[in-house]
Formats: sequence, C-alpha cells, structure tokens
Amino acid sequence: MKLPRLTIAIIGIASGSLLAQQIQLPQNPLQGRIVFEEKKCIECHAIGGFGGTVGPDLSKREFFGSTLELASIIWNHAPQMNRKFRQLRMNRPSLTENEMLDLFGFLYYLRYLGEPGSVSHGRSLLTSKGCITCHMVAGKGGKVGPDLERVQGYASPLFMVQAMWNHGPAMQEQIKKTRMSYPILSGQDVADISAYLRQATTGSADMRMSPGNPAKGRTLFEQKRCVKCHLGEGEARITQPGLIRIDLKKGVTGVATLMWNHGLAMMARMKRESVDWPRFEGNEMADLLAYIYFLGFEDKPGDTQRGESVFRSKGCVDCHRQAGGGRGPDLATINRFETPIRMIQLMWNHAGEMEDLVITGNKNWPVLSTRDMRDLYAYLRKVAQK
Ligand code: HEC
Ligand code: HEC
Ligand code: HEC
Ligand code: HEC
Repeated sequence: MKLPRLTIAIIGIASGSLLAQQIQLPQNPLQGRIVFEEKKCIECHAIGGFGGTVGPDLSKREFFGSTLELASIIWNHAPQMNRKFRQLRMNRPSLTENEMLDLFGFLYYLRYLGEPGSVSHGRSLLTSKGCITCHMVAGKGGKVGPDLERVQGYASPLFMVQAMWNHGPAMQEQIKKTRMSYPILSGQDVADISAYLRQATTGSADMRMSPGNPAKGRTLFEQKRCVKCHLGEGEARITQPGLIRIDLKKGVTGVATLMWNHGLAMMARMKRESVDWPRFEGNEMADLLAYIYFLGFEDKPGDTQRGESVFRSKGCVDCHRQAGGGRGPDLATINRFETPIRMIQLMWNHAGEMEDLVITGNKNWPVLSTRDMRDLYAYLRKVAQK
C-alpha cells in the first residue's frame, strides 16, 4: 500500500550537523513515510484516513510527545500489536537506527501542519477580529493598512504570520491610535483566515505552506536574538536564569498564534531591553517555527538512580543480569546507547522475542511510562559507558 503523494509530499526537512546534546532531528521525514510503507505499518495504521484500520489512524492523535514519550506509547502497545502480527501472519518488522529515527520524525511531524482551515470561519474572523476595519478584503474594508487580497502570499498561513509579524510594531501604532484592542487569535484562526484569503485571491499560484527546516531555524533562533530572552534546547537550559522557556505542544499554527498573541508583551520587553524588532524574509518564519516545534521532541534528562530501580521493578533484571547468566544479554556490555533512538530501536527489535519469554514465563508485559523510559535510558546509558 502506498500513501497518496499529496497528503505528505509537502513534508521535507534537511538537517545540518548535530551535536550530541542537541535534539536528534530526522534527516528528512519524507524518508519516514517510506519506512512507514516499507515496514508495513500502513497495513494496520492509516494516516489521514488512508491505510489499514486494524490499529488507530496515527494522524488523529493530538501530539505524540517527545522521543521517549512516543517510545513509551509504542512499547506499551507492543503486546497488542504483536497479537495482530500473529493473527495476520505478518512478520514483525525490524528496524535499523536510521529507520527508527525517520519513523519517529515522521510520526512527530504529522501534527505539524494541523487541520486545514475553514473558509467561512476565516471570513467571519476578519470582521470579528477587526482586521476589516483597517484592511480591504474582497473590495470591502478600511484603508489604514494594505489590501490583504492583493498579496497572494498570505494564502499560506506562515507567510501571513510572517507579514503580520514584520508589520507588528506599525500595526500596533495604528491600533493604539484607533483605540482598538490588539486582536488576540485562538486555535485555528490563523489557518482559517488564510484559507479564506486563499479562496478570495484570484491568483493561480500554488500556495502550499512551506514545511520549514528546523536546522536552519536553530540558527535563526540565535541570529534573530530570540536567545536573549528564551531558552532553546540542551545546554541553553542551564545557562542564564530568567530566560523564558518555550515549551509548546502545538502544531505550526498554534505556535504562530502564540507568538502573535504575545507580540505586545514581547514588543514591550524588546523596547525596554533595546532589542530591535526582528524581521523575517523568505522562508525564515517557517524555518523558525519548525525549529520551535521540534523543541518538543527533546526529552528532559532522566534520573539514573530511578532508572536502576525501574530496571529492577519492571523485571528487566530477571533476564538481563550482570555478567550474563540471564536469558537476555548483559546490557552493560553493549556500548550502544548513545541516543534514545538507539535504545528504542534495540528494544523494538527484541520486543517480539521478549514477549514470547514474558508469555511463557507467565509474566506481565512491563508497562513503561514516559518517565520510566527516560530514567531507564539515563541508567542504561550510564552502565553501558563503563
Ligand atoms: C499487524 C498490525 C499492526 C502493524 C503492522 C503495526 N501496528 Fe501499530 N498498532 C497496532 C494496534 C492493534 C495498535 C493498538 C494497540 C492498543 O490499542 O493497545 C497499535 C498501536 C500503535 C501506536 C500507538 C497509537 C496510539 O495513538 O496510541 C503506535 C504509535 C504504533 N502502533 C506505531 C506503529 C508503527 C510505527 C508501525 C510500523 C513499524 C506499526 N505500528 C505497525 C497494530 C499494528
Ligand atoms: C488598527 C488597524 C489594523 C488592524 C485592526 C489590523 N491591521 Fe494589519 N496592518 C495594519 C497596518 C497599518 C499595516 C501596515 C504596517 C506597515 O506598514 O508596516 C498592517 C499590516 C498587515 C499585514 C502585512 C501587510 C503587508 O503589506 O505585508 C498583514 C498580513 C496584516 N496586517 C493582517 C492583519 C490581520 C489578519 C488582522 C486581524 C487579525 C489585522 N491585520 C488587523 C493595521 C491593522
Ligand atoms: C526582549 C525579550 C524577548 C525576545 C528577544 C523574544 N521574546 Fe518571545 N517572549 C517574550 C515575552 C516577554 C513573552 C511573553 C511571555 C508571557 O506572556 O508570559 C514571549 C513569548 C513568546 C512565545 C510564547 C511562549 C508561550 O509559552 O506562550 C513564543 C513562541 C515566543 N515568545 C517566541 C519568540 C521568538 C521565536 C523570538 C525570536 C524571534 C522571541 N520570542 C524573541 C520576550 C522576548
Ligand atoms: C523475559 C526475559 C526478558 C525481560 C523481562 C526483558 N528482556 Fe530484554 N531481552 C531479552 C532477550 C532474550 C533479549 C535478546 C533477544 C535477541 O537477542 O534477539 C533481549 C534484548 C534486549 C535489548 C537489546 C540488546 C541487544 O544486544 O541488542 C535491550 C535494549 C533490552 N532487551 C532491554 C530490556 C529492558 C529495558 C527490559 C525491561 C523493561 C527488558 N529488556 C526485559 C529478554 C528479556
């Protein structure tokens, strides 16, 4: 089975070189779509309604969470999945580390684009949010700001957000003058407004949203001085106190909306700290938002001590003894837990055999919460390094 191209063909990320403490970004989630087909996940799972119905449609889920959160979800479902594999006489697919990374990047990215906007809601928002007081759309409206219809680029939510952002301070001036209130947007508003503008504009240009490149976004996050007030990933967390943490479990329109809504607070603070209002060109806003989105992929560091007790209490230690002697290998001799993806890949590949042993040993499948996964990873990483 193959997914129709149009659903996800717009996805594509290239990532630059990555340091160890940074988030492991997939080279290209498009690759993950191929893995999803090749490994037959699609036989049981649909994406956007297309695919098998044995398991849940994976694009329906709100947010899969960080790498280890997703790992926990998959791990805990493994017995049910295995049962289906047996029923359908399918082989359990094994995955390489790169395939696992691609697959995770792909699943994670599914929510990025969010739902398509609603044209009719978009039209009524232009009135209810007061945009029409200052802007012309479809021949009606004010002349304080530019005619929104003429600029086809706004048909893409990201370009609209970028344009709004760039003009933020000037718009703000006007809003003050006219004693209007700053338009606060919610939920899907950004997508809806641009869906309406897309329909209202006459141009034939293909205005699909650019997916954004998180690796470039990482650089922009510094270049545009976001780092002056915000924490990104990794070590930035422990450097300066007083930085505002960006931790958003939202798709691209959600992130864009928050940035817009916080525009006033940011403007005020930037003025105070003499930071120039950053402006964005070309694909920059898309790249930056993709990076902010991928911040959610990062896991908090785990607790090695707690990890050790998870290893005991979940029964891993029954089969994985020190210096061997259990039914599974001594995990300390495996110097291969450099990344969470690596651990997940090894666990996934052995989940079939492990399950057989769990069943014959009359034991329960060890359910692992996200926190368990995180701590387990910290622990395994530590023992394997010795
Ligand atoms: C033979 C059928 C089958 C195949 C093939 C399969 N799965 Fe599943 N999967 C299931 C079933 C059934 C569930 C639901 C289990 C449950 O409800 O506990 C599930 C659950 C999941 C979930 C959790 C979904 C959620 O929202 O809770 C994820 C993620 C997942 N599978 C990913 C994958 C990936 C990735 C692959 C390919 C490597 C794959 N599955 C292959 C049957 C399958
Ligand atoms: C009080 C008047 C006012 C309101 C209300 C207002 N705008 Fe604006 N807007 C402006 C002005 C003035 C500019 C041009 C700023 C500049 O020249 O830098 C602008 C610029 C823009 C731009 C960039 C236009 C360009 O040429 O690149 C977009 C997009 C935009 N507004 C969208 C909106 C949307 C969507 C809303 C409603 C949520 C809205 N505006 C509400 C006054 C307003
Ligand atoms: C001068 C300080 C400053 C700079 C520079 C700055 N911000 Fe902000 N940012 C803020 C403040 C203040 C808030 C509002 C926090 C609040 O409302 O609680 C905020 C809020 C946000 C939010 C919403 C966070 C949330 O959890 O709701 C996002 C997203 C954001 N900023 C992104 C950015 C990006 C991207 C950049 C770089 C282009 C940037 N900020 C630059 C001060 C700044
Ligand atoms: C019932 C016995 C059993 C239990 C319980 C068990 N494992 Fe395993 N595990 C195995 C066996 C057997 C293998 C080797 C499978 C193989 O070689 O294909 C294995 C392999 C692994 C591997 C891959 C090692 C490698 O060299 O590739 C990892 C990682 C792992 N287990 C982690 C765990 C964790 C974490 C737990 C606890 C949540 C756990 N195991 C619980 C039996 C078990």
